[in-house]
Amino acid sequence: VCLGNICRSPAAEGVMRAMITKEGLADRVGIRSAGTAGWHAGKLPDQRMRSAGQNRGYDLSSRARQVSEDDLRDYDLVLVMDQQNLRDVRSYDRESQFGSKIRLFCEFCTDHSETEVPDPYYGGEQGFELVLDLLEDGCRGVLRHIRSTLAATDSPGIRGSDAQ
Ligand code: 4NP
Repeated sequence: VCLGNICRSPAAEGVMRAMITKEGLADRVGIRSAGTAGWHAGKLPDQRMRSAGQNRGYDLSSRARQVSEDDLRDYDLVLVMDQQNLRDVRSYDRESQFGSKIRLFCEFCTDHSETEVPDPYYGGEQGFELVLDLLEDGCRGVLRHIRSTLAATDSPGIRGSDAQ
């Protein structure tokens, strides 16, 4: 989740989808980006973001939409790009049920010390490259998290051991 859902989060969706597909996990992991604002609903990602993504082999073709309370219920992990997104997404969690699944994307970065993915919208080309650098780093971390979550889910419980 970012602000407009036309730069950072659609790029995160594209990077994550490429990694998940490469790992053969596409049928087990659902990914969808959103914005805290609905201003750009229905639009493709910003052309500068699409070009920067395309140069690294990512097809960024999701359509912008606004985040909803249902997203908080439906998804296991809701990753936000900056502190403002965190505040805004938390405001959808009216009964404070989903706090532990709403997390800053940069928690999953290991090669960068940034704590937020900076909004590139009003800046130059370099901002879009930094976004992709951070997203590739963090998405590798998210992939490790998903792998370990799936491994825990797949391991046989009591019923599984009985059956063997
Ligand atoms: P995003 O970037 O949150 O990464 O999609 C922005 C896109 C649009 C605007 C701001 C940030 N805007 O002000 O329209």
